[in-house]
Amino acid sequence: MTLWYLARAAGIVAMVMFTVSASLGILTSGSRDPGRRFWLQYVHRSAAATGLVLLTTHVIAVISDAYVDISPTVLVWPVGSGYRPFAMVVGVLALYGLVLAAIVGAARGRLATSETLTRHWRSIHIAASIGWLLSVGHSLLAGTDRGTPWLLAITLSCLGAVAAAGAYRARSQAARARTPLNLARAGRMR
Ligand code: HEM
Repeated sequence: MTLWYLARAAGIVAMVMFTVSASLGILTSGSRDPGRRFWLQYVHRSAAATGLVLLTTHVIAVISDAYVDISPTVLVWPVGSGYRPFAMVVGVLALYGLVLAAIVGAARGRLATSETLTRHWRSIHIAASIGWLLSVGHSLLAGTDRGTPWLLAITLSCLGAVAAAGAYRARSQAARARTPLNLARAGRMR
């Protein structure tokens, strides 16, 4: 059962790491202080990289383990999985979204070279948010522990953390828009 426990533990910690990364990503793009942005960005990337390593461990352990019959083809055809196919579809789509976001994220310096390209880069990077949300959905659908209070508490805390980061960013953006300089700019544009 060691592999099976490893698979589940790695899945849970991966979801937590992607949550840390998603929350810090939201806070980074809402911050104007360069020093703060640097550290938020650094931890955002490190958490995403740790999450990807744990996700790889989760997938390899789930496939290698003999407790349930899941073959490597699940990664291209999750509908055919003999084990909780709907949950597998959601998990595999989460994986695609997060891997795409990681590749595009790693190539940011080469891709986002102008304002227009940066806008396109941002719209592709939304794959990370979709992947994160799907990974939370997968946790609610797939796991042996999905009905236990402790896993429900972890999963709901993940949703809460990202919602709190979003609310904090919206509040600081609204406060910034109310500063005298921005109010004057808005008045001039009218
Ligand atoms: C971002 C992607 C993913 C994350 C964050 C994730 C995370 C999780 C979590 C938190 C659980 C619950 C563990 C438990 O109940 O103890 C779980 C279960 C599971 N995941 Fe994933 N997963 C992801 C992708 C995948 C993929 C691509 C597969 C397919 C190979 C997969 C296969 C499974 C299986 C078979 C279970 C059920 C384990 C059980 O019954 O306890 N997961 N996953």
